[in-house]
Amino acid sequence: MQKIKFYGDPVPLEMHKVRIVQKLNLIPIEERVKAVTDAGNNTFLLQNKDVFIDMLTDSGVNAMSDRQLSAMMVADDSYAGSATHTKLESKIQEYFGKTYFLPAHQGRACEHLLAKVFVKPGDIMITNYHFTTTKAHVLLAGGTVKELYYPDALDPESDNPFKGNMPPDRLREAIAEYGRDRIAFVRMESGTNLIGGQPFSLGNLKEIYQICQEHGLPLVQDMSLLADNLYFIKEREPAYKDAEICDIARELSDNTDIIYFSARKLGHARGGGLCTSDRDYYLKLRDLVPIYEGFLTYGGMSVREIEAIAVGLEETMDYEMINQGPEFIAFMVGELNKRGVPVVNPAGGLGCHLDAMRFVDHVPQSEYPAGALGSALMIAGSIRGMERGTLSEERNPDGSEHYSNMELLRLALPRRVFTLSQIKYAIDRVTWLYENRHLVGGLKFLEEPKMLRFFVGRLAPVSDWQEKLVAKFKEDFGDSL
Ligand code: F0G
Repeated sequence: MQKIKFYGDPVPLEMHKVRIVQKLNLIPIEERVKAVTDAGNNTFLLQNKDVFIDMLTDSGVNAMSDRQLSAMMVADDSYAGSATHTKLESKIQEYFGKTYFLPAHQGRACEHLLAKVFVKPGDIMITNYHFTTTKAHVLLAGGTVKELYYPDALDPESDNPFKGNMPPDRLREAIAEYGRDRIAFVRMESGTNLIGGQPFSLGNLKEIYQICQEHGLPLVQDMSLLADNLYFIKEREPAYKDAEICDIARELSDNTDIIYFSARKLGHARGGGLCTSDRDYYLKLRDLVPIYEGFLTYGGMSVREIEAIAVGLEETMDYEMINQGPEFIAFMVGELNKRGVPVVNPAGGLGCHLDAMRFVDHVPQSEYPAGALGSALMIAGSIRGMERGTLSEERNPDGSEHYSNMELLRLALPRRVFTLSQIKYAIDRVTWLYENRHLVGGLKFLEEPKMLRFFVGRLAPVSDWQEKLVAKFKEDFGDSL
C-alpha cells in the first residue's frame, strides 16, 4: 500500500465514503446530568438518544460495507447443511488454515465452551492479560487466572510497541511452579483490550507457542481484536513490514492451537466462533455447541450475520480497511498528548484510553476514578466512554475491593463510524475537562451486582461535584450545547 503524503499537516485519510447515516442528538448539559443520574452513573445504562458521541465500545457497532450488506440478502437459512455456513467455514480455512470451525453466538460464548472443556476446579489459565468475560468464565468453572506481562505493559507512558507480549521466561517459570497438569491452557489476546488495545508481536507469539508445544499445553488465541494486531505487526515489527496482511494472519494462526473470536469486533458483524485443526479439541468443543449455542451450522447466529462475517473477514485482510481505526486513534492520542492530557501511549487499537489515575489523581481508587471520569465526560460533552478500571474488576472472595492495575476511561472508536470533526469535538471537550479536572469527584455504589458489576451496577456521586461541573461549563460556554 502506498503511503499518502501531504503538502501541509498530515491527517488520517479514510479510504471509503459514507453512504448511510444516522441522525445524532446533542442535548443541553442539564439534560445530560439528568441522563447520567437516571443511568446510575453507569455509561452502560444510558439511553442512546441522550448520547452524542458513543464511544462505549466497538462491539457490534462498526460500520458495515456495501459488500457485507448485499451478502446478507442472499443468506441460506437452511437449518442443516446451510451454504452460508460452508461459505464462512471455507473463508476460515482460507485465511487461518484451520480444519474445523464451530459457530457461537458471540465471543463470551466461545469462552464459556473453552472453560467447560479445559478448566477443572483448581486449574490455572495463563494469559498475557485477562478480559472481563474470559476471567468470569474461568472463575465460574472453578479456575483462576494468572497474567504474565512485562512490567511496562501497565505503564501508560512507556513507548513499548508490543505491550501485549508475554515474557517467555515467566511462562517457563509458571509451568515449573504449577506443573503442566494444573494449567488449563495458555491464552494470548490480540489487541489486548484492557491494557489499552495493545498488540503482541508475532516473534513473541512464536516463542510462547514453542514453549506450549514443548509442554503439550494448548495455546488459545483470542482474535477478537485481530485487525488492530495485524496492523501493528505490519507497522511496528520490522520483519513483517513488507508482508501481506493475509500472510501475517496465517502465521498468527499457524502458531496457535485454538482460535476464538467475537465477530462483533472481528469481521464487523455480530456473532463468534472457534477454529482448530486438532480433532480431539474439536470433538470436545463440538459436543457443547448444540447444547448451549444452536446447531453446528449457525451456533446462535443469524445466517445473515454469518454472510456478513465471511465478507468482513475478507475485508480484514485489506490494509486500507484495518488502518482506519488505529490511525484515527493515533490522531486523537497525539492531539491529547500535545495538550498534556494523560492517555495511554503508544496509541493502541480499539480506542483512545484516558489514564484516570493521572487525570483525576485526587480521586482515590475506592471511589472509582475511571467511572467518575466517565460521568464527567458525559456531562461535559455527551461523550459516552467505558470504565476499564476497578469497577470492571470482581471483588476478592473476602468481599474486599480488588483495585485494578490501571484506571482507564476507554473512548472506543467504532471503525469507519466517526468523522475527524467529531473526533476533534471529543478532543476539545476532553481538554476542557482536563483543565477543570479538580472539579471531578468520586462515585459510590447504590446497587452492586455480584458478578460483572460494571454492566448493570448503579452509582451516585460522593458529593455535589456534578452540579459544580455544570456551573463551570455554563461559565465557560454560556448556553452552548
Ligand atoms: N475478547 C475480547 C478481547 C473482547 O474485547 C470481547 C468483548 C470478548 C472477548 C467477548 O466478546 O462481547 O462478543 O461476547 N469486548 C467488548 C468490549 C464487550 O466492549 O470491549 P463478546
